Amino acid sequence: MENNINIDKKTDELIAELTLEEKIKLCSGASMWTTEEIKRLNIPAIVMSDGPHGLRYVVEINEFGATSNKKTTCFPTASALASSWNKDLLYRVGKTLAEEAKSLGVNIILGPGVNIKRSPLGGRNFEYFSEDPILTADLASSFVKGVQDQGVGTSLKHYVCNNQEYKRFSVNVKVAERVLREIYLLAFERVIKETAPWTVMAAYNRVNGSPATQSDYLLNQILRDEWGYQGLVISDWGAIHDRVAALKSGLDLEMPGPSRVNKDKIQRQLDKNELKEEILNKSVKQILKTVFKSSKEKITVDYDEHDKIAQSAAEESVVLLKNENDLLPVDFNNLNSITVIGEMAVNPRYQGNGSSKVTPYILSDGLSEIEKSIPPAVELYYASGYNNDQNLESQIDEALNKAAKSDYVIIFAGIPEKFESEGFDRKNIDLPESQNKLIKAVSEVNKNIIVVLNNGSAVNISAWIDKVPAVLEGWLPGQAGAKAIVNVIKGKVNPSGKLAETFPLSLAHNPSYLNFPGVNEEVNYAEGLYIGYRYYEKKKIEPQFPFGHGLSYTKFEYTNLSLDKEVWVEDEIEVKFELKNVGELAGKEIVQLYVSQNTPYYDRPRKELKKFKKVSLKSGESKELRFNLSYRDFAYFNPELKDWVVEEDEYKIIIASSSKDIRLNASIKINSKDIAHILNTDDPVLDWLADPLGKRVLTEVLSTEQIDYLENEENIYITERPLYRLDFLSDEMVNEQEIEKIILNYSMLRGDYYSN
Ligand code: BGC
Repeated sequence: MENNINIDKKTDELIAELTLEEKIKLCSGASMWTTEEIKRLNIPAIVMSDGPHGLRYVVEINEFGATSNKKTTCFPTASALASSWNKDLLYRVGKTLAEEAKSLGVNIILGPGVNIKRSPLGGRNFEYFSEDPILTADLASSFVKGVQDQGVGTSLKHYVCNNQEYKRFSVNVKVAERVLREIYLLAFERVIKETAPWTVMAAYNRVNGSPATQSDYLLNQILRDEWGYQGLVISDWGAIHDRVAALKSGLDLEMPGPSRVNKDKIQRQLDKNELKEEILNKSVKQILKTVFKSSKEKITVDYDEHDKIAQSAAEESVVLLKNENDLLPVDFNNLNSITVIGEMAVNPRYQGNGSSKVTPYILSDGLSEIEKSIPPAVELYYASGYNNDQNLESQIDEALNKAAKSDYVIIFAGIPEKFESEGFDRKNIDLPESQNKLIKAVSEVNKNIIVVLNNGSAVNISAWIDKVPAVLEGWLPGQAGAKAIVNVIKGKVNPSGKLAETFPLSLAHNPSYLNFPGVNEEVNYAEGLYIGYRYYEKKKIEPQFPFGHGLSYTKFEYTNLSLDKEVWVEDEIEVKFELKNVGELAGKEIVQLYVSQNTPYYDRPRKELKKFKKVSLKSGESKELRFNLSYRDFAYFNPELKDWVVEEDEYKIIIASSSKDIRLNASIKINSKDIAHILNTDDPVLDWLADPLGKRVLTEVLSTEQIDYLENEENIYITERPLYRLDFLSDEMVNEQEIEKIILNYSMLRGDYYSN
């Protein structure tokens, strides 16, 4: 790897030497996974590989780019990793993946995916982190740092609004700018600013009419000019609509390649002078910079060690959803018999299908892990219970017979792969009826049931949740997932994951329900900002399990919140509180900090996650925790001013164990000079009175008597009308000259206010 100054000089020199043809050639891949090599000038090719939860080093190719891959470590997929809420873990996973990449000569890992889970039906939700942009961003940033610190690149994908599989190659996403900024772009923005990923992958879909691969607004204006991104923009595989328009918009590298048709198109436009060579040079420069940044160093890796990392990643990700009467953990040494039910106990569901599919180095399964964990004297029964989404009465009977004579029953259930994959969306969020029927029937013959779920996205388990005392969400936990799950069941590991997505009671409760996956060629993000918990809270809809929920075998107590009462937004804002493990066992708690604005001018969600921390505490131990808040933690994207704004207001700082389980809160007054809305004569007098500057001007221009008149609630029929009508409506109580003076003083005051 060379340093940046050398690379910069070298690329400029090479650009001067490259022929036009060579430059055009460099702008698309040489194959499915490599860039072009220019031997004459010693420009090597670089190699890319999926991502994100394992290295899919392809040996043979099919429609998803692979039929057989090298065996590598299969980590938990992103929805599992996100449930760990553990930034250090994400760094470690990234680092380990990068080591495997280096061992195979891979220079860029195609991930992480930071698309927001708009609907639980999204077919690729297993590959994405969360419904919340901050959680997504902070975990993805750690992952990117973990990879890139080893000299391997990442590709932050899929930029942007690729939130469904239905018509993903063509669908037009209609989304308001504020929603785009606060929900869908936010994770990209934070990761880019914090970690400078080597590449960003532009998505297949269109956004507000433009293909994401040729959106000047998204690529040139936001990504490059506003966020200062200096890396390489590549297309998702086959996502280029119009190659020349894409180049002009800042899409550097077309993947895969080679693309003779597009090369010809570029050449023709250059010949006609409709494409300037400088535009091509800019992209060539990005490609060369990435090539020379890439290391050729080869290392060897220890896949057994990596399996242990995959296991600890899965252990951090398991979410204990329910644990009535502390049924879990189970003391395997102190029982006579146990029954394991479910095809997934022997044929585990551990990763998603599609371009991210890894060939695991080794694979654990639930039944074998349980068998290894119990003393020889304990009777172990197994019944398949179902196959895929079907079962026979005889399979249920067998399960019931065995369950009835056992101390405990562990049922492995989940979503079969055929219902959850890249390439299509899910049709519903239910478990197959065969599994629901089985679980209900077993619950009639044995009360000590533990259900383990393996699925990549939220599921509806309301059919039996009241009949089952203990439920573990194991997600798609990777190759070592079964070891992790069994360690949690037997108490070797205290569960510490929390949900990174809401589990609704019904699919119809989901905010995108009326607009997913859209009609004809368009999907309208009509629910606006109200994604996930932001919606369920505002609408007062009870979810099955809220965002941020997850139980532990121990208990935590939150005390002593300390926070300033009033500050300026530029000030350092520190939040302190104490967390104590008041239970018997060591454990980890994920503390969550949400911010809620009291009276926003533009509507806002009731609260938004801003910070989180995973804290490990021994029994009886306590720690003082601190969070620092700054401007963006209070800001929203103001649709009128098209900028981030912090309104002067009271804000509530909420410290919580889940989005519903609020432990501490306190208010802080934030002083700010930002203006949320520029008042004009069409605004009702009431709005002038409510606005701090508006009120100041009214008070300057009008007498106390006039102000009293306007503030008198009996005159609401006047004050709810626009300012320009005030002379007429108030019967000249306020006259036309005074209204003109109000307008003039307001614009002068605003000018002064801004310049100070
Ligand atoms: C997927 C990308 C993936 C690429 C290469 C595309 O179909 O959307 O996520 O990186 O293929 O396999």
